[in-house]
Amino acid sequence: MAKKPLIFAHRGVKSTHPENTMIAFKEAVNVGADGIELDVQLSKDGEIIVIHDETLDRTTTGKGAVQDYTLEELKQIDAGEKFNTVFKGETIPTLREVFEWATTNKLLLNVELKNDVIHYNELEEKVIALIEEFELHSRIILSSFNHQSIAKLSTLAPELEHALLYEEKENEIVQNIHQNRANGFHPNFKWLTEEMIKEVQQAGFIVRPYTVNNMADVQRMIDYGVDVIITDYPQQAKALLEA
Ligand code: G3P
Ligand code: CA
Repeated sequence: MAKKPLIFAHRGVKSTHPENTMIAFKEAVNVGADGIELDVQLSKDGEIIVIHDETLDRTTTGKGAVQDYTLEELKQIDAGEKFNTVFKGETIPTLREVFEWATTNKLLLNVELKNDVIHYNELEEKVIALIEEFELHSRIILSSFNHQSIAKLSTLAPELEHALLYEEKENEIVQNIHQNRANGFHPNFKWLTEEMIKEVQQAGFIVRPYTVNNMADVQRMIDYGVDVIITDYPQQAKALLEA
C-alpha cells in the first residue's frame, strides 16, 4: 500500500474561504490539514504581503498593481467580501502576521515567492530574515516558478526546503533540481506520471503536486505515492485518506 501523503490547503482553504487570508489559513487547522500554501509579493514600501495576483482586482476591492501601494494603503482594502460578503473585513495579510499566527499551531508552511512575473528586489533576503526571526526553519518549504530565485534562496539558506514549481511538463527535471540546489518538485498534477514521481523520489527529492481538486485525482496521486498533495479541498482529501 502507498504511504499516506500530507495534505496542504492551497492559499488556505480556498474552496470555502477567501484565498490567502487569515481566515482561510485558520480554516486549514479546523479541517485537519497538515500545511498551507500561500503566495508572497512586496508592497511599494517593501513589506512582504500575502496575495496571489500581481493586481488587486480579482480578489480584493482594490484596483491596479499590488506593487503601487504601500502596506498602509493595502490594509484599507477588503480581501474577503469579493469571495462572499460574510467575509467582509478580511485584509491582505503580511507574512509577519501569518508567521505570528503560525507560532500557535504546527502547520507546515509552503511559501511561494510570486516573483516569476515581477522580480522583486531582495524578496528572498526578506523572506529568509523573517523565517529566522520566527525560528520557523523546520516548518518552511520555499517554492517558486522562478528557478533562479530558488537557487538564490538555497545559497542564502541551504538548511531550508527549496522546491521548483512547474506549470508545464519539461524534460530533465532531476538535473534542474540539482542545478538549482533544490530538494523538492512541485508540478502541476495534470501531466504528472507515476514514472516521473519515482524518478524524482529515487533521486532523493520530495514531490508535492498542485492543485489537485477532484477526489479521483487525489486518489490517483495517493496511489502514485506522492509526498504531499496541494488542494483547495483539504477537508475532502483528508476524509478520503481516512476512509
Ligand atoms: O504552489 C502551488 C500553486 O499554488 C502554484 O500555482 O498559480 O496557484 O500559485 P498558483
Ligand atoms: Ca501559489
